[in-house]
Amino acid sequence: MAELDLFTEQRWRQLATEIEKHAHAYYVLDTPTISDREYDRLFAELEALEEKHPELRRPDSPTGRVGGAPLDGLEKFEHPSPMLSLNNSYDADDIRDFDARIKRMLGDDAPERIPYLVEPKLDGIAMELIYEQGLLTVAVTRGDGQTGQLVTRNVRTIRNLPLRLKDVPGVAVPARIAVRGEIVMTKDGFQALNRRREAAGLELYVNARNSTGGLVRNLDPKQAAAAPLRFYCHSAGIAEGAAWATQSDFMQLARDFGFQTARGIRLCEGIDAVLAHLDRIEELRPDYNYDIDGAVMKVDPIALQEELGFVSRAPRWAMAYKYAAEQAETKLLAIDIQVGRTGVLTPVARLEPVFVGGVTVTNATLHNADELERKDIRAGDVVVIQRAGDVIPQVVRSLAERREQELAVFSFPDACPECGAATVQPEDEVAVRCPNNLGCPAQLREGIQHFVSRHAMDIDGLGEKIVEQLLDATLIADAADIFALEGRRDELLGLERMGVKKVDNLLAAIEEARSRGSHRILFGLGIRHVGESSARKLMQHFGSWDALAAAGVEELEACEDVGPIVAAGIRAWFEQEGNLALVGRLRDRGVVFPDAERARVDEGHPFAGKAVVVTGTLDTMGRTEAKRAIEAAGGKSPGSVSAKTDYLVAGAKAGSKLAKANKLGVTVLTEEAFLSLLRGEAPPAQQE
Ligand code: IVH
Repeated sequence: MAELDLFTEQRWRQLATEIEKHAHAYYVLDTPTISDREYDRLFAELEALEEKHPELRRPDSPTGRVGGAPLDGLEKFEHPSPMLSLNNSYDADDIRDFDARIKRMLGDDAPERIPYLVEPKLDGIAMELIYEQGLLTVAVTRGDGQTGQLVTRNVRTIRNLPLRLKDVPGVAVPARIAVRGEIVMTKDGFQALNRRREAAGLELYVNARNSTGGLVRNLDPKQAAAAPLRFYCHSAGIAEGAAWATQSDFMQLARDFGFQTARGIRLCEGIDAVLAHLDRIEELRPDYNYDIDGAVMKVDPIALQEELGFVSRAPRWAMAYKYAAEQAETKLLAIDIQVGRTGVLTPVARLEPVFVGGVTVTNATLHNADELERKDIRAGDVVVIQRAGDVIPQVVRSLAERREQELAVFSFPDACPECGAATVQPEDEVAVRCPNNLGCPAQLREGIQHFVSRHAMDIDGLGEKIVEQLLDATLIADAADIFALEGRRDELLGLERMGVKKVDNLLAAIEEARSRGSHRILFGLGIRHVGESSARKLMQHFGSWDALAAAGVEELEACEDVGPIVAAGIRAWFEQEGNLALVGRLRDRGVVFPDAERARVDEGHPFAGKAVVVTGTLDTMGRTEAKRAIEAAGGKSPGSVSAKTDYLVAGAKAGSKLAKANKLGVTVLTEEAFLSLLRGEAPPAQQE
């Protein structure tokens, strides 16, 4: 085994944290922060590190899970069988490798040319529909692959899916079948929806996928009913009383039952036919009336699929092929500088509007001064921009050969455009910063916007525009002033577009935010490197705000996920007079800083510090409940069995996990033994 050094361990932590962050943004918030390709690269690096140093593998590593956790608010529902993901490929070599690997694994069972069903990969919201005796009873989002959210009422409004399976001659109605697919919004429907929103003065949706996600989870089914949503079937989960021999047979059966499947699905014999059809689908991409972001190839015969099986989170018999980001040319009208919450100056491209990747783009990021210089991008240039998935559009390069006249080289300002302070560039950073953290109006504005945002104080009705209005009207000068607004009702009413109802709702939301909790305040204050989850962990670790504020660097580093840089950042923040004054003012205005429930672990509990995997069906509780109980006892409950697993709880119909546990010599618990240990009692004698 390769020796583990500090650097490798740090890199592991860095990767794990970053991947979790992006996964949360993608799966839970529907707002991806990096391209799929970049994400896959990070993930592959993490997997390789863990392969080389298995001791790094922890039960909570991103490699051990499928997606993100479901959002609160909607009821949760456990999938009868997990919803997996697909491995991605990006070029013909990847695909040939995939085919060669499959042939190797199948050995003598491999046909000369493997039959693959090639389908477009729909870029929507994954959904599982459960039909009992032919009737749609449950619609559930993918969530983390194990547990999703119940969205049945909204999904029932989608017109192209059957509420009752159609009768198929010669086929009995299945007792229970889970049909899986993608909910998408039609492209023209999306444009029309945005035109209506614009006319009504509402904020425009960024793209079809985000708005689909929002509508599917909307608590008011009328919203979904009015939207141009469609369901396209692409696979099946459990099936009781139904069977098929190939993926193509299943797709035919699905169509017979009344489902729609995507256009352009084709059975291809052998890898050359697959590659040709992948190109064909890419050519047809603009003609689809919904977004697709690639294609999927699946080994067609179910018998071969079963022989190939799964690796942790994806089937070995299928592969997604992702198309490159969509690019377009347009004119760069101007380069502006934006100042962010932490003072970073970011150059932003103002563009002649251009339609790319399903949306009209007018702004794109130019990242930083180094990039601008390296790419020699100048105002007036024709530039190539791209959108990968839902990521912020980027300027890829300028077409210098198309310059008709000499264009001025952009000179990065050495003073902050908002407050005039001389900028600084720390030696080890690419970012140029405005150092005037407490006095720069841009940092103040962005900081307050972050403070009231959804994952911080979550003050409904306090959007970016209103924060600006409040600052302009000097109704607030910092975050604490928000909690004095109740005394300035008349002035609020005097603001543009602020009616009685809006003001009352806003004041009620502010009142509610007074008791959001200390970790949300901590996150909201925007201390560098302190994200949502580290804020929560810090509060749990220190128990109270004052204990945290008083903690020295070493004590801070004792907290999970806090390294030297983060610790120094926190310490520095609590040493700034202005910050302490702000906290004091928040307290004076009735914001409560409650003590956190300290992560109390009963060290003596049999599950404390143990990895306990749950599989199969339990009689007395659901799997999610069992996991919570294990965690409450101080243990962890990862999704898969490994050499590090301490116990496997095996319910009825336990399958591959049980086999693996037996192979690895992991202690297997019956439900009865599990319950006894959970109560802290000795388990009853177990039969072998
Ligand atoms: S098959 C076991 N087929 O892609 C694999 N998935 O990374 C089951 N997706 O969220 C999925 N189009 O919902 C399959 N033609 C297609 C698909 C497709 C889109 C989504 C799927 C999942 C993700 C997998």
